[in-house]
Amino acid sequence: MLVTFRRKRPCFHFLLLFSTILSSFSSGHAGVTSAYIRSEWPSVDIPLDNEVFAVPEGHNIPQQVHITQGDYDGKSVIISWVTPDEPGPRKLQYGKSKDYKLSADSTVTNYTFYKYNSGYIHYCLLNALEYSTKYYYKIEARDSSREFWFQTPPRIHPDAPYTFGIIGDLGQTYNSLSTLQHYKQTGAQTVLFVGDLSYADQYKYNNIGVRWDSWGRFIEPIAAYQPWIWTAGNHEIEYMPDLGELTTFKNYLHRYPTPHAASKSSSPLWYSVRRASAHIIVLSSYSPFVKYTPQWMWLREELQRVNREITPWLIVLMHAPIYSSNVGHYMEGESMRSVFESWFVQYRVDFVFSGHVHAYERSYRMSNIHYNVTSGDRYPVPNKAAPVYITVGDGGNREGLAAKFWDPQPDYSAFREASYGHSTLEVHNRTHAIYRWNRNDDGKSIPTDSVVFHNQYWASNLRRRRRGG
Ligand SMILES: [Fe+2]
Repeated sequence: MLVTFRRKRPCFHFLLLFSTILSSFSSGHAGVTSAYIRSEWPSVDIPLDNEVFAVPEGHNIPQQVHITQGDYDGKSVIISWVTPDEPGPRKLQYGKSKDYKLSADSTVTNYTFYKYNSGYIHYCLLNALEYSTKYYYKIEARDSSREFWFQTPPRIHPDAPYTFGIIGDLGQTYNSLSTLQHYKQTGAQTVLFVGDLSYADQYKYNNIGVRWDSWGRFIEPIAAYQPWIWTAGNHEIEYMPDLGELTTFKNYLHRYPTPHAASKSSSPLWYSVRRASAHIIVLSSYSPFVKYTPQWMWLREELQRVNREITPWLIVLMHAPIYSSNVGHYMEGESMRSVFESWFVQYRVDFVFSGHVHAYERSYRMSNIHYNVTSGDRYPVPNKAAPVYITVGDGGNREGLAAKFWDPQPDYSAFREASYGHSTLEVHNRTHAIYRWNRNDDGKSIPTDSVVFHNQYWASNLRRRRRGG
C-alpha cells in the first residue's frame, strides 16, 4: 500500500473505497463534540440529614422500597424493602385496587459488612400478574403501613410500544438528584440501570453500609413505582481485604435481586428479561466472560433464544463501554469487545448501553471484527449490522465528570458531551424508536441528542416488514 501512496496518480480503487467508508459514516459528516459550557455544581454527596434520605417515621417502618422484573416475560415483580430494627411483618398485600385482595409473604435476610449490620432485607415475588395493569401494594408494619403502586408492561408483542429510561453511575450527590428529578418528568416506564449505584464504596468502615441504605431511600420515590433493571458496575465489587471483606458484590447482591434463574443464568450478575417489544440482555463487565466461562456460555445460548419476530428490539446492557473516545477509562472495555463484538454484529443487536465513563457518547453503527492480531482491519469500519454504542455514565456521582475526550474525534463517534443527564428510548413499534439524551442543567425541555432509530431486524428487510404487516 505504501507504493500506492507514492504514485503520482492515486489508485482509483483505493479512493473509491476510502470515499465509500467516509460516506457510510453519517453521510460523510464528522461526529459532534458538543461545545456546551456547563455550570457544574460541586459533586459532593448530599449530607445524610437531608430530606432526600429521610427515614420514614415510626418504629421499624419499611424503607428502601424498590421493584424489578421478576420473571422472563414481565408477569412477575420482585419487591424489596428493608426493616431497620427487626424482621417485622412479612406480609405484603396487593391488588388491582386499594382493597388489596391478594397477599404474598416475603423472605428475609441480613448480612454484615465489616462491623456494619444490615437491616432486614425482604424480597417478595408477585407472580401471575396481568399485563398492562396497575397494581397497588401495601407493605405491612406494626405501627403503620406503606402504600405504593406499579404498572405492569404490555403483553410481549413486536409492536408493543414502551419507553425505557437509561441511567448510569448515579451516586447520591446534588447532581444525582437533578438526574432523578429530570428523569421523573420523562414518562419513561422502566429504568435500564447500567451500573455503579450508590458509590458507597468511597466511604470507610461502617459508613459503606450506611450509604447503601441512604441510596436505597434516595431512589425509592422512583424505584418503588417502576422496575429498575440492574447491571453491576465496578463500584459494586467492594473487594476490601483491609476490612476483611473478600466476598465480591456483597452489598449489591443482598440488596438488588435479579430474576436470573428465569433466563437460565447461573448468576444474578448476568441475565435477561423480555419486556413489551424488547429483549434486554444484562452482562457483567467484572465477572469472567472469556470463552468457556459461565457468562460466555450463557450468552451464547441466550442469543439463540432471542426471537425478533416477538421481541424485535435487542438491547445489551453492560457497565464498561466497549467503544468510548473519552480519556477516562479508555480501552477498559476492549477485552469484552474482543470476545463479544462479533456476536453483537451476527445477532444484529440494536443498542449496547454502558456507563462507567462519566460523560455521554453515542456511536454510529460500526464494528472492528476483522482484526485477528496478524492481519485484517485494525480500525472500526461502518457496519450496518452492528449496534449503536451509547455511554450514559453521566448520572452525577461524587467523582465528577470525565471532561476530556481524545482529539480528533474518531470517525465512529457520532456525538459526545461531558454533562450530567440520562437517556430515554421510546419504542413505537417493530420498526421505529426515538432515542433521546437529556442534559440536566440547561433548563431546556428539549433533548440535547435525539435520533430516530430503525430496528435492526424488521426495518432492514422490506419483505419481512410486509409479511409482518
Ligand atoms: Fe464505573
